[in-house]
Amino acid sequence: MAATTNDSTSGATAATDGGSSDTAAKRYYVTTPIYYVNDRPHLGHAYTTVAGDVLTRWHRQRGEKVWYLTGTDEHGQKIMRTAEANGVRPQEWTDKLVEEAWKPLWRHLDIQNDDFIRTTEKRHTDRVQEFVQDLYDKGEIYQGGYEGPYCVACEEYKTGDQLIDGENGEKLCAVHKRPVEMLKEENYFFKLSEYGPKLLEHYAAHPEFIQPESARNEVLRFVEQGLEDLSISRSTFDWGVRVPWDPAHVIYVWVDALLNYATAVGYGSDQERFESTFPADVHLVGKDILRFHAVIWPAMLMANGLPLPRRVIANGWLMVGGEKMSKSNLTGIAPQDLTEHFGVDAYRWYFLRAIQFGQDGSFSWEDFSARYTSELANDYGNLASRVAAMVGKYFGGALPAATAAGEAEEALAEGLKRAAATADEAIGERLDFAGGISAVFDFIKDVNGYLTEQQPWKVAKDESPEAQARLATILYTAAESLRAAAVLLNPVMPESSAKLWESLGAEAAGLGPIAEQRIGRVAEWGLLPAGATVTKGAVLFPRLEEPKKDEAKG
Ligand code: MSP
Repeated sequence: MAATTNDSTSGATAATDGGSSDTAAKRYYVTTPIYYVNDRPHLGHAYTTVAGDVLTRWHRQRGEKVWYLTGTDEHGQKIMRTAEANGVRPQEWTDKLVEEAWKPLWRHLDIQNDDFIRTTEKRHTDRVQEFVQDLYDKGEIYQGGYEGPYCVACEEYKTGDQLIDGENGEKLCAVHKRPVEMLKEENYFFKLSEYGPKLLEHYAAHPEFIQPESARNEVLRFVEQGLEDLSISRSTFDWGVRVPWDPAHVIYVWVDALLNYATAVGYGSDQERFESTFPADVHLVGKDILRFHAVIWPAMLMANGLPLPRRVIANGWLMVGGEKMSKSNLTGIAPQDLTEHFGVDAYRWYFLRAIQFGQDGSFSWEDFSARYTSELANDYGNLASRVAAMVGKYFGGALPAATAAGEAEEALAEGLKRAAATADEAIGERLDFAGGISAVFDFIKDVNGYLTEQQPWKVAKDESPEAQARLATILYTAAESLRAAAVLLNPVMPESSAKLWESLGAEAAGLGPIAEQRIGRVAEWGLLPAGATVTKGAVLFPRLEEPKKDEAKG
């Protein structure tokens, strides 16, 4: 067999452009799945994309070079049939949806992706052909036949364990609960079956490769059973990338799609960029597409001598009525309905705060409202406005210096160190967004507790120099705590952090823009300079309006 043996942990391939490749630090590269554009984005898609945005913003604030990629998966039968049903050509359909629905939603949700790849772009399709041709030339692809049950919604041939019985004895896809179609094709196959042992070796040597543990176990069990070769072309329809040596076939949409992670960062076109970005540090995927990312994708990379991603991390599903939320069973609530009511920041925060990443969860209007009111509006927003109001009232808006700090202030500074370290490890490393966010909100609770104990409004009534020094110290301590909270919450809620930054007068006082504040320094006590101009500013989390009647169902 012509397959190359790969050291998957080594760097990238040899430079082909003859240019000297600078060994600047590799970018921290994060991807979302590229989404099918048969319809508009829903809460489930936004969930993964927001998670990736928070993760990459966090790493940017660590001072790392980051690359965040998202995009759309535009070929295959599913898209073709949807376009046909709407009486337009597939390209027209995808152009419209990408521009009118997908890109605008990511802008609306403050997603800072560095690129947006569409699989119909030439920069992608040319490279897909080259990649597949390479595999063919290496003897990794052969011609054969296959017959089996196929789910168009998954764009995948199914094995027996992925099927369930329908009411009339027909076989249904276990994910979509829709009948599978028997498909028989003469097409091309990738020798996936030969990669089982190498994959198992890789999983064993890199236990962090697939997360969470439940996802890893599922993949291990699947690969241990033995892999079948993968059909990688279709000849019964033509909406796809042509197989270069046999244009009567198009490349299987999943092979086409997975390659986006390489083509978008310069594979075969810009070697220097490719080497400084690829492979991904984190592929974020829904658990439904885990096998593609943790089995097929690494095998394709091994076959072509490319390095493997560091981690594939599966998020759970947002559920509706006990089923995975999908096009056919939406809540009837679009992301924009929620942002209109709660605001974009609260939306970004809620799903990551309320659902343990990796587990399934469901949205409830009541739960969102309750958490918004208690944590965002009361604990955090009120704290910010009370502190600003007191600095205004007692010190004319000029932040006083802390000249009489004692044990209570030290305890808070220590608490901040712990919160920052916990959040950094949880969000930045383990993608435990709920744990990281809680650590910051626990700190915010401690700041509230500190004010309740210190009672600055009472201290203010005593005009003695000692009391005034205590008052100054208490308010400085609270404002300095808010400075840190704004920085730590900026990746999750950039809009409110910017408002708070403005209200603390932090940038004008010399700290620079909020996005440039480093996580590594956030717990250094005393960064906010005395003398900063504190203003009341905009309310961070306004009281919620009563939901409209038809929205109240949750
Ligand atoms: N096009 C493929 C992915 C190719 S990646 C090389 C695809 N697209 S998809 O639009 O159907 O879904 C992509 C992803 O959207 C899921 O893997 C998941 O990350 C996210 N979600 C879609 N529905 C979801 C939920 N109900 N809950 C959570 N995430 C969901 O599969």
